Amino acid sequence: MRIAVLPGDGIGPEVVAEALKVLRALEPAGLRLECTQADVGGIAVDRCGDPLPPPTLALARACDAILFGAVGGPRYDTAPRAQRPEQGLLRLRKELGLFANLRPARIFPGLGGASALKSEVVDGLDILIIRELTGDIYFGQPRGIHTLASGEREGFDTMRYREGEIRRIARVAFESARGRARRVCSVDKANVLETMQLWREVVSEVAHEFPDVELSHMLVDNAAMQLVRAPRQFDVIVTGNMFGDILSDEASALTGSIGMLPSASLDERHKGMYEPIHGSAPDIAGKGLANPLATILSAAMMLRYSLRQEAFAQRIERAVQAVLRAGLRTADLARAGEQAIGTAAMGDAVVAAL
Ligand code: IPM
Ligand code: MG
Repeated sequence: MRIAVLPGDGIGPEVVAEALKVLRALEPAGLRLECTQADVGGIAVDRCGDPLPPPTLALARACDAILFGAVGGPRYDTAPRAQRPEQGLLRLRKELGLFANLRPARIFPGLGGASALKSEVVDGLDILIIRELTGDIYFGQPRGIHTLASGEREGFDTMRYREGEIRRIARVAFESARGRARRVCSVDKANVLETMQLWREVVSEVAHEFPDVELSHMLVDNAAMQLVRAPRQFDVIVTGNMFGDILSDEASALTGSIGMLPSASLDERHKGMYEPIHGSAPDIAGKGLANPLATILSAAMMLRYSLRQEAFAQRIERAVQAVLRAGLRTADLARAGEQAIGTAAMGDAVVAAL
């Protein structure tokens, strides 16, 4: 199995190093991975003026899966758009057709108290957010900033979804629900936006193919509220690119820390890119403070979805549960009075638990 390793910026290299440590620890048990590293994001801009250099894209295409750290940093915020680190990530998603973004939000044993919400509201929480990742206002044309006849500048982006794009992400949601509680909530803004009216119609059509799965619809503003009011009502949430971006950050706060949440971005054939959802966290980069568990759990998802190594995936997930149960906490998880350990110590603890 060939893996493209793209650590990127900020805490990306630190957390990816721990995930690789964990993967390597499975080699004696028979896991065979050939890992090749390449630059993406800000570091790639620094080295060759392009956040997704052609050799990195070629490597990503050639591999069976991609392990991704994070991109971005304040240094690049004023660069022209094509040279922003985020473009490296967005182009990878688009070029590789990684349209299905799976973002599980679950409470790990012992972490209920780290949630932003009362533990009686979140105990047992297990939501799977399925975010469409290659369409919507993120990629719709036309877009730009132009100057009107009056001399005033105007910025514009376009929300667009084709039926086929909606249908394929809906199918991923219904299929995923079959392995869970068989409930899909489709989140849209059909009361205001034409694009979202089509979204609702197409998702409802696809539901006929899955009579064993219950479908409900919810407007995005209400969904944002329900997620903090009664989050356990959700099983699978399927939504568009932009709403999914926002709701998945919100859902992460329910689980205690954004540092816990992995993600998978899959194409039609389950080739995928695996990344923590937390981003580059420039404020703590290089300090050895970052929580590597989201990346370690992303590596587990990689074993499950792209490499079909379910047993190894479960071993990693059980090891993560064991270190949490033993009370080990990185700074993002530690509560007042609790001792926090660093990035490498957490990686070592997971390896030991394996
Ligand atoms: C995410 C991130 C990205 C997004 C950024 C870094 C482009 O927020 O993966 O959620 O908006 O999709
Ligand atoms: Mg985001």
